Formats: sequence, C-alpha cells, structure tokens
Amino acid sequence: MSDWPGGARHYAQTPEQISRAEFKLLEALEVFGVQLPSHGRALDLGAAPGGWTRLLLEAGLHVVAVDPANLDPRLHESSRLEHYRGYAETYLEDAVKKHRRFDLIVNDMRMDAREASRVLGQAAPCLRPEGFIISVFKLPHETREIQPLITLKEAMSTLKKYYAIVHARQLFHNRQEVTVIAAQPLTTRA
Ligand SMILES: C[S@@+](CC[C@H](N)C(=O)[O-])C[C@H]1O[C@@H](n2cnc3c(N)ncnc32)[C@H](O)[C@@H]1O
Repeated sequence: MSDWPGGARHYAQTPEQISRAEFKLLEALEVFGVQLPSHGRALDLGAAPGGWTRLLLEAGLHVVAVDPANLDPRLHESSRLEHYRGYAETYLEDAVKKHRRFDLIVNDMRMDAREASRVLGQAAPCLRPEGFIISVFKLPHETREIQPLITLKEAMSTLKKYYAIVHARQLFHNRQEVTVIAAQPLTTRA
C-alpha cells in the first residue's frame, strides 16, 4: 500500500492564511468533492486561531466560531463572525435549547476522537436537514496498550447514532487523525 494512494496534495501559503490547519479543510473539500455552501450559517468547533473560520467566511457563510482561545485579530473585521469564547459543550447546551440551526458544522477540536464524536452527537439537533459536517478525529499514537483503530471504530460507532457517514479517510495533511464528512440520516432529511 502506498502511503498516499490519492496523491500528496500541496497548497500554496498565502499572506491571508491564518493556520496550517487550513490545508486540511482545503484538502477535504478537494478529495471528497464537496463544496462549501455560499450562504447560510456555519458552526466552527475548536476554531482558534481561525484558519477554517477564515475559509468559511470567504465562502460567504455567517460563522459562529467556538473556542476558549483567541482568534486572529484580522477575522474580527468581518461582520459575519461571532466568537463564542468558551467550550463547545457549553455553547451547544445553550444552542440546542435556543433551537439554533446551522447549514454546516465543522470540528477540529484538540480532543480524543471518542469525545469529539459525543460532542458532535450533542450538536446533531443544530444541523439543518440538508446540512453536513466536516470533522477531524484525533487519534492516539499506537503503543502496546493503545490501538488507534479501536479508538476510531468507537468514535465512528458513536457518530453513526446521529449521522450518516459519507466519507472517512486519513488525508495527506492529517497527522495522527482522520477527516470525516457526515450528514443527517435519511430519516431526518425526509
Ligand atoms: C488544531 S486547533 C484548531 C485549528 C483551527 N481549525 C484553525 O483552522 O485555525 C484546536 C483547537 O481546539 C480547541 N479546543 C479544544 N477543546 C475544545 C473544546 N472543548 N471546545 C472548544 N474548543 C476546544 C483548542 O482551544 C484549539 O484552539
């Protein structure tokens, strides 16, 4: 097996770029053939310093960026950005109660994959029927006791309780992680 059967993707650094994490989102869109919506609302979980948020704003979306850490100051020039300076779990508790809805939910939180899948489960009522999610799942490094694939299977099995998984793959720009695209299950969409 080659390390990168789909080929190694390279993206040019630009002066506007905020983080190298941007390459992960760009690659996911290209490899999975997905287009960002050009309007509507996006929720960015684990947004700081704001690379993904920048790309979502650039696409035309209104973005709620959730992270206890600071966002790059250049982002605050946009009137379509709201920064919730706190944890995703707390934001979602309130968002579910207030019936907040999003066309796109993205997640790049530095968090164990199983925990991230639980947080995305919490976010499921906030995703519009035609919406989708793009999520990175961080995996542990393999040791004698720890098998990253088991962690991944557990995370996927939790995620499947809430979403239909459309793509899941380790991309060139993913390190010890995989990228997943998921949508509302058909029953919810009908
Ligand atoms: C890899 S960085 C995200 C990079 C970002 N996607 C970008 O493009 O700039 C991971 C972020 O997850 C955030 N994070 C970790 N746990 C979180 C939680 N429970 N709620 C919200 N953010 C969290 C960290 O504060 C950190 O800023």
